[in-house]
Amino acid sequence: MTESLVAAVLVDGELEVETSLRPRRLDDFVGQERVKEQLGIALDAAKARGEALDHVLLVGPPGLGKTTLAQIIREELGVGIRTVAGPALERKGDMAAILTGLEPRDVLFVDEIHRVNRAIEEILYPALEDFRLDIIVGQGPAARTLTLDLPHFTLVGATTRTGLLTTPLRDRFGMTFRLGYYEPAELTSIVKRSARILGVMLEPDAADEIARRSRGTPRIANRILRRVRDVAEVRHAGEITTEVAREALELLEVDQLGLERTDRELLAAVVHKFSGGPVGLSTLAVALGEEPDTIEDVYEPYLLQLGFLQRTPRGRIVTDRGRAHVGAARDDGSLF
Ligand SMILES: Nc1ncnc2c1ncn2[C@@H]1O[C@H](COP(=O)(O)OP(=O)(O)OP(=O)(O)O)[C@@H](O)[C@H]1O
Ligand SMILES: [Mg+2]
Repeated sequence: MTESLVAAVLVDGELEVETSLRPRRLDDFVGQERVKEQLGIALDAAKARGEALDHVLLVGPPGLGKTTLAQIIREELGVGIRTVAGPALERKGDMAAILTGLEPRDVLFVDEIHRVNRAIEEILYPALEDFRLDIIVGQGPAARTLTLDLPHFTLVGATTRTGLLTTPLRDRFGMTFRLGYYEPAELTSIVKRSARILGVMLEPDAADEIARRSRGTPRIANRILRRVRDVAEVRHAGEITTEVAREALELLEVDQLGLERTDRELLAAVVHKFSGGPVGLSTLAVALGEEPDTIEDVYEPYLLQLGFLQRTPRGRIVTDRGRAHVGAARDDGSLF
């Protein structure tokens, strides 16, 4: 089985490559023009006033640039950053230690912020609103609340879906930016930039081919580029021509629309096992042997975007267009 290009799991050395390909300044960040414009103004204003930037919530499917933007914010402000994963924050004390360790105007980046627990969330409310930390010392009748002042900092939260956040938490962000899928032309320029950084020769048409099959996602474009480079180096003279790109994409089982085996299996399962739907998410997850969250966050967004799948109150339905695509693939979801 080939490893999935969409899945969020990073394989060997991928973290380093992602870091090296990550744009550092807002000007290098390709696409998302409105986000860039609004964020750019907010950054300039905060810098001019010498104040902390308002709290920022970044929303969007995996691989569209949330972590990248958090890093850019810190870089543009010229401040420090503390990065934590929402699920890793367990105890109030951990959160309190992180907050008290921040310097004025620092960025606190909480990834997967929808997965912080209730206790942590309650500490965050006064911290975000009044830069205040309330700590309870002692127990029972002797318990007292101790209030500490915190430096004015910027929380940058990242999440795949806003609906997962509680309203009080969502309301404490001054800015919410939604990242959408990228246009093929934008992905082409991302692929070309990455090829330059990686030092690989890339034919312009090959860049377009990779961009078209990257399902609107920079991370996938970069992953495909690296796999294609492998094929170019092992089987050919190293240069990525359109033919080499096509050969590699076939090897990866990425079809014309950028769908992978799992995407096709998902569509095929709904069509063949559940008569086209509606089928509930958990039932579908069992049929595919995947986690419901993975299906919802990783695979479905692009299928919805293509109009192949619909979410209805009664479950998932494959549309006529989705059926047509399944028809072109074999029953097991493979194409070749
Ligand atoms: N606008 C962009 N321009 C150029 N490269 C980009 C852009 N957005 C993302 N990338 C590339 O895609 C990779 C993945 O982006 P990033 O890690 O920021 O995604 P993410 O939204 O945080 O994903 P996840 O939800 O999985 O954490 C980055 O390493 C970067 O190289
Ligand atoms: Mg990220």
